[in-house]
Amino acid sequence: MAEQAGDPLFQSHDPIFDRKELLHVGHVPDEDRIVGRDDEIQSVAAEVGAITRGDPPNNVMIYGKTGTGKSLISRHVATRAQTAARDNEIDCGVLYVDCSEANTETRATRQLALSLKDQTGYQENIPLRGVGTMEYYQHIWGILEDFFDAIIVILDEIDKLDNSNILMQLSRAREAQKTDAYIGVIGISNKVKYRETLDERIDSSFGHRELFFHPYDASQLREIMRNREDAFQPEVLEGGTIELCAALAAKKHGDARKAIEILKEAGELARRTGSETVSESHIQQAQEVAEINRIEELTSGATVHAKLALYALASRIITGDRETHKTREIYERYVGICNMVTTDPITENGLYRQLKEQAFLGVIESEKTGGGRSQGSYLLHRLVTDPKHIIKAVRRDDSLKELPTYDQLTETGSATNNRDVDLSSFS
Ligand SMILES: Nc1ncnc2c1ncn2[C@@H]1O[C@H](COP(=O)(O)OP(=O)(O)O)[C@@H](O)[C@H]1O
Ligand SMILES: [Mg+2]
Repeated sequence: MAEQAGDPLFQSHDPIFDRKELLHVGHVPDEDRIVGRDDEIQSVAAEVGAITRGDPPNNVMIYGKTGTGKSLISRHVATRAQTAARDNEIDCGVLYVDCSEANTETRATRQLALSLKDQTGYQENIPLRGVGTMEYYQHIWGILEDFFDAIIVILDEIDKLDNSNILMQLSRAREAQKTDAYIGVIGISNKVKYRETLDERIDSSFGHRELFFHPYDASQLREIMRNREDAFQPEVLEGGTIELCAALAAKKHGDARKAIEILKEAGELARRTGSETVSESHIQQAQEVAEINRIEELTSGATVHAKLALYALASRIITGDRETHKTREIYERYVGICNMVTTDPITENGLYRQLKEQAFLGVIESEKTGGGRSQGSYLLHRLVTDPKHIIKAVRRDDSLKELPTYDQLTETGSATNNRDVDLSSFS
């Protein structure tokens, strides 16, 4: 390397990472770095592949937990289909919409129209605001008319869309003579439960196949990470770190994103602390941080009441001796907590709905338990993660910093004098 001193404030050489971009969440690895998804690649290709021969594709819904490669495989297959179509002189566009961002029909159609324009020489101006869904559809049909024989539309995290009209519009477009282009939709959802509501949301015009992606096992996770080892400088990853990372992620529902995140976070931790290598202890610490991040992300759209409900459940688990708690028990503690942060509590029924939402997101699990016929049944809620992580994630919300920390909660069993926080409602 050339001996250019530069500003000593900035290191010219990263001692830990070499190609850190390989560990970024949105990074789409090359084909030869994709591990253990041959069957899934074949299946997705079988549904949309007709496009490459100039025939109508099937729509497909992909279900599976986070980090099972749904987004990756969809993009990978769509891009390959585009290339294969081009070889047959078919103009096939690929459109990707993250519906957790574009979560209304207007936003989604706007994004479709804009990225179609981006991919073509379409001249007309597409307004960013002040117009409705219909106008965006007009642009979409117009661009398809002028530039494409077919498009593949990936609607990722489709369950975040506030309505499913876009599915009907896209699947009926040819029939309704809006366009001659074939449209293949790949819908993706982390929530298998979405499947139950999908049939109610759409009519038969959105005919589709369903695919389920299963979690990775530890050996697949190891291989996924080995394939990205060159993100690090040589010799930096200590022996056993990838194995440990894979084992931790496999235990937490085989999530490849999480495995990669932990690896990256461990590297950053090593760098921050001036360590020359990444050790197993860095992986352990990184795993905790990653889990808190995950919870924070899952609950980021949640209301303050949902967060307080989670906090109430977590704190009951910490200060009590049971893993599961009734809605009523959570509610009682929640009301106490509302006082601490001077928030007006919502009703018990309202809180029950917030808990159901969290169960849907996968932060908690709720199970109906029958007392006898005369006693009626009730719900028992449990956390799917360490309560400590919930406490930390909830306290990251600026408005909830006054809540007791995990350490303060674990001390509530002992003497309660001399506290800077009033913990009386936790005993
Ligand atoms: N089979 C695989 N081979 C290599 N990397 C993978 C594989 N599956 C997932 N990944 C990586 O793991 C991360 C999460 O995958 P992603 O497709 O976003 O999961 P999902 O959409 O199911 O939540 C991404 O960084 C992706 O590149
Ligand atoms: Mg995804």
